[in-house]
Amino acid sequence: MPSFYIETLGCQMNVLDSELAASGLIQLGLSATESLRDADVILFNTCSIRQHAEDKVYSALGRLTGWRERNPGGVLGVLGCMAQKDQRLIFRRAPHVDFVLGPGQLDRLPGVVQALLLEKTEGRIPAKELLVSLPRLERKHAEVVDSFRRYDPIRLPETRLRRFQALVRVMFGCDKFCSYCIVPSVRGPEQSRSPQEILDEVKTLTDQGVLEITLVGQTVNSYRFKEGEKTTRLADLLDKICGVDGLRRVRFVTNYPRGMDDELLQAVRDLPKVGKHLHVPAQSGSDAVLQRMKRNYTVSDYRELIDRIYDTIPGVSMTSDFIVGFCGETEEEFTETIDLVKYGRFKNSFIFKYSARPGTKSAELFADDVPEPVKKRRNNELLAVQDSISLEMNRKFIGRKVDILVEGPDELGNRLTGRTSCDRVVVFDGDSTLVGTFIELDIVDAAPFTLAASGG
Ligand code: SAH
Ligand code: SF4
Ligand code: F3S
Repeated sequence: MPSFYIETLGCQMNVLDSELAASGLIQLGLSATESLRDADVILFNTCSIRQHAEDKVYSALGRLTGWRERNPGGVLGVLGCMAQKDQRLIFRRAPHVDFVLGPGQLDRLPGVVQALLLEKTEGRIPAKELLVSLPRLERKHAEVVDSFRRYDPIRLPETRLRRFQALVRVMFGCDKFCSYCIVPSVRGPEQSRSPQEILDEVKTLTDQGVLEITLVGQTVNSYRFKEGEKTTRLADLLDKICGVDGLRRVRFVTNYPRGMDDELLQAVRDLPKVGKHLHVPAQSGSDAVLQRMKRNYTVSDYRELIDRIYDTIPGVSMTSDFIVGFCGETEEEFTETIDLVKYGRFKNSFIFKYSARPGTKSAELFADDVPEPVKKRRNNELLAVQDSISLEMNRKFIGRKVDILVEGPDELGNRLTGRTSCDRVVVFDGDSTLVGTFIELDIVDAAPFTLAASGG
């Protein structure tokens, strides 16, 4: 039985796609292996969000020339966003790659792998296979939508990191076109799945023992599905999902700041199963930068949203993303971002240095003119501000009781970790039989990224 190995980079969409890819290959009769060197089929599920993510894949591919010499019958494939973006360039830079398959073509993966394995066992040298969707801005919208083929079959539980947690896609693609971002061109137009399809998937997963579902989409709060007169939005969908027996917790990522309407915030407040946590990336605290980023909101809109979230949902935590060193970002503009981070009281923020992506508006229109050392310094400065806020917010939990879902051992394997409804990580001493259960613990200490509890 041939074996396969998948390396996954990038966001939750890729994590989910890798699970779907693994399920398809297992159903074909292949077995999963954790060892790249021993695999007959090696797949890289790639990300193009920043240059660094792409560099990692090209150098990993470069290191596989020896593997290829030892395994002429092996199959090497590149999946994911970089497959859609770079297409044939991948064959030029890494001639030992057999196929390139974009995120809108995942349903074709098992067929391609099977055909390539067969041709190679029969001693033929197969032609390179390129399976990608249509370029977004050069073809008719409907044609492009069709070319990003949706694929959400039932996953095998063993392909998930933890059996009691699962990701569920609610929408595909993105229509926002922020000036720096490659996602709309590599993931294609926004398409929402039908609520019935989503509910059926959630029921199947809970029947398999899943307790916590995370709904994923690039702008999950833009979820909208029309059937006749009726439109289902994210708040309605959450309400339906919370009705599924056996399910204990629902989360959703990622939100776009516009369209965080009161119905959604009230749903998060009123539905006990919905995690009290909202990830709403701000990207910058400067109006001029937000305008260059084409984010379509102002800093005061975002500050009002922060107020509305904290006023509506007791105990909620917020998290955010920021890009530092965006084209033309001045020291004053950066200082405005520091001010927003202080105002936001975020549980944590993901901070990225701007990386120009060929094919995006910002790469075309503006110079990437903030020097690397300045980007680095701003990154560290913003992180330091956020860390002290994270610590301060976490310290408020000392002496309180929290409910957590126990996820598994910590990195060192000595203690257990779990997560609160507001997405805080709790570390404690406990027996491994607690993994996959909900327990209540007393918080005794706090660090910026974790809370410590007395034994469970
Ligand atoms: N759909 C989500 C985020 C997707 S990408 C949203 O709109 O919020 C995750 C994060 O990567 C973004 O929030 C942004 O902070 C960062 N990012 C995207 N493009 C980038 C680029 N070109 N350089 C640096 N960071 C980038
Ligand atoms: Fe990229 Fe903007 Fe879409 Fe997020 S909303 S995926 S940052 S284009
Ligand atoms: Fe990366 Fe694609 Fe996700 S570019 S962040 S893997 S949608």
